[in-house]
Formats: sequence, structure tokens, C-alpha cells
Amino acid sequence: MATWDPATYLQFSDERSRPFFDPDLPHRCDRPELRRRPGLRSRDLTATLADRWPAARIEGVDSSPEMIDEANTHHDTRVDFQLADLVTWRPDAPVDVMVSNATLQWVPGHRDLLPRLVEMLSPNGWLAFQVPGNFTEPSHQLLRELATDARFVEATRDVEYPAAFDAETYLADLAMLGCEVDAWRRRTCTC
Ligand SMILES: C[S@@+](CC[C@H](N)C(=O)[O-])C[C@H]1O[C@@H](n2cnc3c(N)ncnc32)[C@H](O)[C@@H]1O
Repeated sequence: MATWDPATYLQFSDERSRPFFDPDLPHRCDRPELRRRPGLRSRDLTATLADRWPAARIEGVDSSPEMIDEANTHHDTRVDFQLADLVTWRPDAPVDVMVSNATLQWVPGHRDLLPRLVEMLSPNGWLAFQVPGNFTEPSHQLLRELATDARFVEATRDVEYPAAFDAETYLADLAMLGCEVDAWRRRTCTC
């Protein structure tokens, strides 16, 4: 399993959090009973949900001890961070809003996980997730090329490759599960 370095990850937090806020993913699933107020940007994306829905009980799940430790260093008592694998994690009660940012692409076969995630929702609950669509970009191509080069085979042997699908695929999957689906794709260029 990949080791996540929160310090390296957070070096690019602005770029990485952009798909979460623009367009505003949690806003799409705002629920009146969660008492909305303007979201604040903070270091941890899960904590912004507590800013947005102060009355809600917020749980954060990640399978990386390093990422959970980093989240816990902020001692944000509004969020209960748990070390768990999404594949086996089960909430203790139906969930009103399940938000996943930039995670499902790291879970092999994650489309098979969707029925389970939808089943965990409360009636009229929301599943909101964001996955990147940059796997054909030069950075990813370069890694694949290096992995086939004899000089780098050993160094790249255990590298995990993220994978995600286009919006239409998720739309079809979720529609098959009886969900009302709002799926979109966004392309951003920066230099
Ligand atoms: C790109 S980071 C995103 C982190 C955070 N969600 C955010 O938006 O800043 C991907 C995260 O997915 C987590 N992850 C990968 N596979 C997982 C799994 N099976 N269950 C739970 N978390 C997983 C990794 O540990 C890592 O923290």
C-alpha cells in the first residue's frame, strides 16, 4: 500500500483542493437540516465541512496512518478522524452526506464499491465524490514509461497507479442504483 506524506501532499493543497471548491462540491449536496453557512478554507478539507455544517456530526475516514495523524494534529474536535479502509469501513448509522475528494481513484475496482456506499446513505442522502481525470497527462505517461525501462523497473515495482472513469460512466453506474445523478467534468489549465 502506498505511503502518503502529508507534508508533500499539502505543498500543493491549493491546486489539489480546487476541484473540491470550484465548483463547490459540498454545496451541491447542502441539506437544510445541516444548517448551512459559508464554508471556510482550511488546511483539511474535511474540517471545512464542519465549518459549513456546524450542527452535523462529521467523520473523516482515511486508510493512511500518516494522513490521519496529520489531520489529528489540528485537534479539531468537530471532526472524528478514523483510520479505516473504505472497502471495509461501515458507519454506525446511515449517513446524510458522504463526501469523497480525490480518494476513489486509489481504490482498485472502486466502481464495485458504489452500491455499498449508496446503501449506507440515509433516505434522500447524498454521495458526492470527486476524482481526477488527468491520467493521460505527461506526468502519468512519464511514470508508465519509466516503469518499463529496465533501469527503473525495480524502483517503480510497487508504485500504485490511480485510475478513474469519465463522468458518463459514473452517471450510468449511479443511475442504475436508482440515484438522481448530477455529474460534470471540469478542465482547468494553470501555468
Ligand atoms: C489524493 S489523497 C486525498 C486526501 C483528501 N481526501 C483530500 O482531498 O485532501 C488520497 C487519499 O486516499 C486515501 N486512500 C487510498 N485508498 C484508500 C482506501 N481504500 N480507503 C480509505 N482511504 C484511502 C489515501 O490514504 C490518501 O490520503
